Amino acid sequence: MKAVCSQKGWKVDQEILKEERAILKQIARKFTNFEKKRQGLIPILQMVQAELSYLSPEALNMVAGYLEISKSEVYGVATFYNQFRFQPPGKHPVKVCLGTACHVRAGDIILENFERKLKICEGETSDDREFSLERVACVGCCALAPVAVIGETVHGHMAPSKVEGLILRIAIEKEMQAREKQKNESGQS
Ligand code: FES
Repeated sequence: MKAVCSQKGWKVDQEILKEERAILKQIARKFTNFEKKRQGLIPILQMVQAELSYLSPEALNMVAGYLEISKSEVYGVATFYNQFRFQPPGKHPVKVCLGTACHVRAGDIILENFERKLKICEGETSDDREFSLERVACVGCCALAPVAVIGETVHGHMAPSKVEGLILRIAIEKEMQAREKQKNESGQS
């Protein structure tokens, strides 16, 4: 599965990296609010996630450095708890329901289609941070199964053929917003 869907490249947008570096600096300053004790690990991880929205490898290394404990210990604790995420959230989080009602109506095929079209596997985020993809249990709209949720919008009666259209719609909206912004900026100058 991974080999088919995960085609993430190495190129993450420079602006995103710059933004993340700035947040990591703020995080480093906030470490001093916490005692340098092993017991402080979870609250520190929570603070990091609140600031950065996820636990990046760099952030985890920084935590290990501050607490003077091994990186593997930090990883071990962080991966034990469901509350922590290790992939940045996409601007458009896609959740595909694989609860019972959706599963029997081929929700897994919908998920595979999103994986193929977005070129990421379930649990990953696209390099441009536009989309993240995850499977979820029942979202409470079983009558509409199979269901996918993009951002806050529930898309019921999903079919593999609808996947590309939904992604395209978001890309078009983004393009329109960019043009609108450009138009406003050139109008102001
Ligand atoms: S099982 Fe998918 S909405 Fe209930």
